[in-house]
Amino acid sequence: MGSEINRGCWYALVIICALLSATNNAYGDLNDPECDLFQGSWVYDESYPMYDSTKCPHIRKEYDCVKYGRPNLDYLKFRWQPSHCSLPIFDAEEFLRKMSGKKIMYIGDSISVNQWQSMVCLIHAALPWQSNITQESINSTTTVTYEDYGVSISIFLSHYLVDIADLFNTRVLKLNSITDGDIWKEYDVLIFNTWLWWYREGEKQPWDYILLGKELLKDMDRMAAFREALKTWGDWVDSEVDIDKTTVFFQGVSPSHYNGLEWNKPGVTNCAKETVPISGSTYLGGVPTAEMVIEQVLSDIMKPVTLLNITRLSQLRKDAHPSSFNAFKGMDCTHWCVAGLPDTWNQILYTYLV
Ligand SMILES: *[C@@H]1O[C@H](CO)[C@@H](O)[C@H](O)[C@H]1NC(C)=O
Ligand SMILES: *[C@@H]1O[C@H](CO)[C@@H](O)[C@H](O)[C@H]1NC(C)=O
Ligand SMILES: *[C@@H]1O[C@H](CO)[C@@H](O)[C@H](O)[C@H]1NC(C)=O
Repeated sequence: MGSEINRGCWYALVIICALLSATNNAYGDLNDPECDLFQGSWVYDESYPMYDSTKCPHIRKEYDCVKYGRPNLDYLKFRWQPSHCSLPIFDAEEFLRKMSGKKIMYIGDSISVNQWQSMVCLIHAALPWQSNITQESINSTTTVTYEDYGVSISIFLSHYLVDIADLFNTRVLKLNSITDGDIWKEYDVLIFNTWLWWYREGEKQPWDYILLGKELLKDMDRMAAFREALKTWGDWVDSEVDIDKTTVFFQGVSPSHYNGLEWNKPGVTNCAKETVPISGSTYLGGVPTAEMVIEQVLSDIMKPVTLLNITRLSQLRKDAHPSSFNAFKGMDCTHWCVAGLPDTWNQILYTYLV
């Protein structure tokens, strides 16, 4: 009995402390030098998710977990809590007002599509129904335009950022060439990502040869190829991007969850049974090598590029993948449900832009 009262008191104290620290951390102190948006933990928040995904017309069937029958929806209820500050609430109208007249573009693989869809849903949920929103696709770019605000948000699909070109009927991955950059540099905000495709082989590999400098190779060390492409991208930023006009972000590696050892469940080979995030801030799997490569290459770029360092906070979200709740019923522990984790990526992006 006594110990139960004690425990009750203890819980009350914990809650009071949590409330106090929440008010202390109200988002004024983003400028606190201790504030690292990427260091923290996931907390249950009854007010989540940020929008009702069933009302968003933009979700690809790969990511629409609620529609495809995911039974446990706890994954929607977690808010990212940095250790020394709090993320501002995503205010779509404020965002559109601040971005007025600007063109935003996500560039990368299906993980970028994932994030773009989340952004478009976040905004869709907050706008009045009569808002003039248009969507069009031209070549590799799909754009949603908020005509009332003069803001557009585009996705440019590029698996490797560097070119794949047709040479004498063979597909060549050109590690030192970025011709699409001429399109990208016209935009005001660029959010890049590439990683998912670098180790793909066989039928899933969309090229036949690699061109490294002047050498045509059948294949090479994939991590070295990835590094070379990122360097090419960094050189492109340094030589082509007008930083008075354009703000550049690079998104860190988005982790997948196929190896239970990384979250202390040896023998588990996918995310099918995961319903809650990892508590705390540490991940047994450690920092992926590709993430270290990204950080090294970024540190050599002269112009300002902001790393959206979402790897760790995403590693903690073994519960946030579609698993088999997509149109194909295939096990997907690589992409993320929308609504879900990519909303937090965008909330962080918002924090930088607003
Ligand atoms: C929406 O915006 C487009 C492009 O500016 C314009 O052509 C169209 O007439 C607008 N539609 C409405 C309903 O206002
Ligand atoms: C689309 O791609 C084609 C072929 O590369 C090019 O000629 C055309 O100008 C592109 N369209 C736009 C609007 O960029
Ligand atoms: C990114 O986050 C990881 C894990 O929290 C951390 O180890 C790393 O130092 C961060 N990188 C940068 C450039 O801040």
